[in-house]
Amino acid sequence: MEIKSAVFLTSMASYLQRPPIHLPQLAVVGKSNVGKSSLINSLCNRKMLCKTSSTPGKTRLINVFLINDQFHLVDLPGYGFAKVNKKEKNRWAEMMEQYFRESTLLCHVLHLVDMRHEPTQDDVVMSGFLREMGIASTVVATKADKISRGARMKHMAPICRALLVQPWDIIPFSCNDGTGRPELLKHLEDVCQFLAPRTS
Ligand code: GTP
Ligand code: MG
Repeated sequence: MEIKSAVFLTSMASYLQRPPIHLPQLAVVGKSNVGKSSLINSLCNRKMLCKTSSTPGKTRLINVFLINDQFHLVDLPGYGFAKVNKKEKNRWAEMMEQYFRESTLLCHVLHLVDMRHEPTQDDVVMSGFLREMGIASTVVATKADKISRGARMKHMAPICRALLVQPWDIIPFSCNDGTGRPELLKHLEDVCQFLAPRTS
């Protein structure tokens, strides 16, 4: 897939303010700081479409982008950010729960994990949740530039064990050196062919 146009549509604190145009959605989830917003920028070949930061907790709202006038790409706030207070954590949990419950147009999720680290308990919960909800997902292992090619397989094993996926189903990705960008775009092309809103 070639991303020819990427337009910021809206930021929502609640999914009840959903976008007026009904298009299939593809969402990006993962731990805070894993590289969700950076991945969207990289895919769209734009530096500042999404705001990124080296400090976790940058994305706090549900941000929706219109891609190729064809589907919505949704940048979600990250989970597992230890430094936020309980009130903020509860707000996050409610916002995400509501999003996943109400977003009947959500067709596919890119679940990002940092290639360098074992998935966290939150990652495992997210993976199980997506499976339970019947939402198709793809695991993307980010920050691949931090691991040499030869060592990557070793880093995939704990990800496979924790998230119950096969190594060949994981897409290694780096927004710094372009690793995995063509593969992920091809994957999105395949996914988009079958984008159809969930029936439940
Ligand atoms: P939240 O919005 O807080 O949930 O974070 P996020 O998942 O959107 O992460 P973001 O894209 O803001 O990136 C977090 C940090 O990781 C930034 O400093 C990025 O420059 C860095 N980063 C993201 N992707 C990569 C990558 O592929 N390689 C390297 N080396 N750094 C990356
Ligand atoms: Mg972000």
